[in-house]
Amino acid sequence: MSIQTCTTFLHEILSSTELRQQMKAVTDTREIIELGRKYGYIFDMQDLIAASSSFNQESAPHQPPPTEQKPAFYHYEYDMEQIRGFEEIVKELENLKIKPPTVDMERYEQSFRTDDFQFLSLSPADPAFEGRYKEIMQAHWEPSAEAHEFSRRDFHLVNLDQHINHPGYEAYLEAKTRMISLLEAFFGCEIRFSGSMWYPPFAYRLWHTNESQAGWRMYLIDFDTPSGGGRSFFRYMNPENKEIVTLEERPKIARFFKIEQAKEKLFWHCIANASMRNRWSFGFIVPDNWLERFPQQDNPI
Ligand SMILES: [Fe+2]
Repeated sequence: MSIQTCTTFLHEILSSTELRQQMKAVTDTREIIELGRKYGYIFDMQDLIAASSSFNQESAPHQPPPTEQKPAFYHYEYDMEQIRGFEEIVKELENLKIKPPTVDMERYEQSFRTDDFQFLSLSPADPAFEGRYKEIMQAHWEPSAEAHEFSRRDFHLVNLDQHINHPGYEAYLEAKTRMISLLEAFFGCEIRFSGSMWYPPFAYRLWHTNESQAGWRMYLIDFDTPSGGGRSFFRYMNPENKEIVTLEERPKIARFFKIEQAKEKLFWHCIANASMRNRWSFGFIVPDNWLERFPQQDNPI
């Protein structure tokens, strides 16, 4: 019966601007269940899976027209405080930088592995890479019965959107929804969150390609202190010449890069917050022509 409730909720989303905006701000199925509950629709994960599959068949998703292939640009970075029109976005970012009290920080710290952290230094082009990658990913592909939030070896960080049972969640979702509206006003088109991550001290995201979701991403990155106690960096491999590029990070970066799916164009990248600071990273799916909508007077860093 709650499959029907869930289906009704999914239809409700289509007819409500308020709900549609909130749906663009959520990235985890737990958030959808929580959002349904808020609007009086009670369903669980199984209901959502069943309802979504039939719902997706009846309402074909909107596919943007294919864009012309342009020469590859791998990466752009801006100081978001220098972007004209980003003032409110920078202010709203403060409301997203939360540390949910439901995160088990002791377990987080215990899950740190020096050997995995060192994997950040191995190039994806190295012959030893593939075997090591497969071994690390095993915990994700075949989770054990005792799996917990920090069992994933490639993902030593906190996915904020998986923490819905804390007093600050509602205000956080409101802030995410306002952020969507601000970004849509800036870019002049639909924007969606792709992920909201908190990197506590010594967090890392090992080498990955994000290949399941092709297209341009924007990440808004910030810290709680300007500097201190180590370094944080974003590292990628240039798909053409296999060169490893390491970019040291500082507060308030707006970073753009393109995710490709063809094997020879995969954008291998990784992130480390090897510092005592807290780092936050909010990802968004942005249109292919985002650069045209970006004020030309702002120079990339
Ligand atoms: Fe990524």
